[in-house]
Amino acid sequence: MTRLVKTALIGHPVSQSKSPLIHRHWMKKYGIAGSYEAIDIAPENLQAGVQQLIEAGYAGFNVTVPHKQAIFDLCDEVENAAKIIGAVNTVVLKNGRLHGYNTDAYGFIQNIKENAGLPEFMRGPCVVLGAGGGARAVVYALAQAGAQEIIVVNRTLARAQQICEIDNQIMRPVEWDARHDVLMTASLLVNTTSSGMAGKDALDIDLALLPPEAIVSDIVYVPLMTDLLSAAKDRSNKTVTGIGMLLHQARLAFEKWHGVLPDVDQDLERIVLG
Ligand code: ATR
Repeated sequence: MTRLVKTALIGHPVSQSKSPLIHRHWMKKYGIAGSYEAIDIAPENLQAGVQQLIEAGYAGFNVTVPHKQAIFDLCDEVENAAKIIGAVNTVVLKNGRLHGYNTDAYGFIQNIKENAGLPEFMRGPCVVLGAGGGARAVVYALAQAGAQEIIVVNRTLARAQQICEIDNQIMRPVEWDARHDVLMTASLLVNTTSSGMAGKDALDIDLALLPPEAIVSDIVYVPLMTDLLSAAKDRSNKTVTGIGMLLHQARLAFEKWHGVLPDVDQDLERIVLG
């Protein structure tokens, strides 16, 4: 009898997540007998919830808000990238032990590579707006990809300073009021703040000083075309939407559980955006 590879997403809430659609699409495409469910676990039940997954024989699970940091402490082993980023979004379960990974950095850089090309953002500084968990994965990915200078602009400067400790040689914190000045030489601008997300305030930025050849990306993907990306497109900057980061981070998780690195195909984009 074929063994069913059980996987899941844990978070709170999880009902809006696209991850089940993504993983089920790939399991079908690659003929893998498995399951992927979204399981809502409240923060106070995290440890007990994870124990239930171990007992039920799960191969692994994804982790989303608000558990990405808390799961870290429950892992028996955590890969280096996840340690530096400070968050685990993918767990592999082996013999009752939790192995923690972070696939967001891979997802971010792969999305940029496939949609804008990699060398293009090496010409000048990369400007990252925001200093939360998303930003940590983005700056780590940029540094790994060889970015020469990364400018982290955040409303709360102390958080930008903290992120730049990842690599003070190439990362520089900048206060929010100076966000327009740093655009002048930027080769890449990435929004990792929650501004621009459906239901949140608009991102308060004017792109007038941004060079026309700079790439603009948003890790927000609801809406897909954020106001930032629309404004960038209107002035002919190359844009990269946030949906690709979600799809590419999922590839690496899928590979860890099933041993196949799946493709991001047009069917999948249609399913996820539909
Ligand atoms: P995540 O871990 O998902 O990235 P987070 O830790 O809540 O989420 O971070 C959200 C980011 O959006 C932070 O950088 C936050 O700035 P602060 O560190 O000053 O809180 C930023 N952010 C949220 N609302 C913002 C706004 N209206 N203007 C500018 N930045 C904003």
